[in-house]
Amino acid sequence: MRRLIYLDNAASTWPKPPGIADAVKEAITDYGANPGRGSHQLAARAEQTIANTRNRLSQLLGVRDPSNLLFCLNTTHAINLALKGLLREGDHIILTGWEHNAVSRPVEWLKHQLHIEATLISTAENEEWAGRVKQEIRSNTRLIVTIHGSNVTGNTLPIVDIGEVARKHRIYYLVDGAQTTGLLPINLNQLPIDMFAFPGHKSLFGPQGTGGLYVSPHVPLEPIIQGGTGSRSEKLDHPADRPLGFESGTPNTPGIAGLGAGVDFLLKTGVETVYQHEMKLINQLWEGLARIEGINLLSPAPPDLPILSFNIKDVDGIEVAAILDQHYQIAVRAGFHCAALAHQSLGTDNRGAVRVSPGYFNTQKEMEQFLQAIRDISQVF
Ligand SMILES: Cc1ncc(COP(=O)(O)O)c(C=O)c1O
Repeated sequence: MRRLIYLDNAASTWPKPPGIADAVKEAITDYGANPGRGSHQLAARAEQTIANTRNRLSQLLGVRDPSNLLFCLNTTHAINLALKGLLREGDHIILTGWEHNAVSRPVEWLKHQLHIEATLISTAENEEWAGRVKQEIRSNTRLIVTIHGSNVTGNTLPIVDIGEVARKHRIYYLVDGAQTTGLLPINLNQLPIDMFAFPGHKSLFGPQGTGGLYVSPHVPLEPIIQGGTGSRSEKLDHPADRPLGFESGTPNTPGIAGLGAGVDFLLKTGVETVYQHEMKLINQLWEGLARIEGINLLSPAPPDLPILSFNIKDVDGIEVAAILDQHYQIAVRAGFHCAALAHQSLGTDNRGAVRVSPGYFNTQKEMEQFLQAIRDISQVF
């Protein structure tokens, strides 16, 4: 059987670099104890693993004090913590028409449950994001939340410009870094960002079930889950210290061990090296697709990230993805990519699109195989 070509790295990267599975296995087989719940050697080793990953991640992301980096299950969990731990009844927030539903759905929930007001910035004016954000600021605006890179088009937003507007108006700024963490250089100590949500299982090469939230020291974030920490166990009240007050219950020690190995791989290989390789592949795809008759690329120019979406004539994307999977052994993602807002912004909310996202272990030859498959399919319809 032909080897499967995996082009769905924007969902979760795969395969993982060497060393990730070994680190997970070692955590399970050599020291599967509960960190923070005991003083014996195995518990101490588990705790050390978590501290090591937190420290190395802090090094990669420019976090000065690692205790401000909170482990979460994934980006969605991190965004929910940021929104629900900060916003209070009557607050106003600003978000964009490119957000993933990891942002838009909790915002909808907060609108109904906490009477939060939300302003969605349409993308018609997307040439001037910072100016548009500024126009929407009100006296009760507490938070601006934007995606860093779109999981549909692969394009980025000017987070520095938006963050500077937020700083000037003393409004907190939360960035959804799901598609950029590990791919673009990020120095949270220097960026005008107050909270940054990220996955461990995408470009940090960690296992699924890992992610995190960076919270700047001055943000008055409250935990949204109480109990389950081993710290100050004699007290009834839940502590709000970072990081432990925000990491209730037994953590995903094997996952965090694997994430540490993923960060090591990135630190050794270099974020820029990974990015350049993946961009070479996406540019090849963009140029190849642009030459095929009947292809409608959702990005009019090559994207900023190794992600692009397209449609073949008026063929349903789900059908294209199924043909690629079953006849060509190529894995892509079709539909709405958990991003109804982005598809509304693009005018594809009636049909979605096919998304292709190569990763560090894909080759130019595989891109050519993908393009040939699309040429074949487009001729049938
Ligand atoms: C832009 C964006 N935000 C949030 C998420 C949710 O990430 P997770 O699966 O880590 O919760 C994704 C996942 O693809 C994403 O692309």
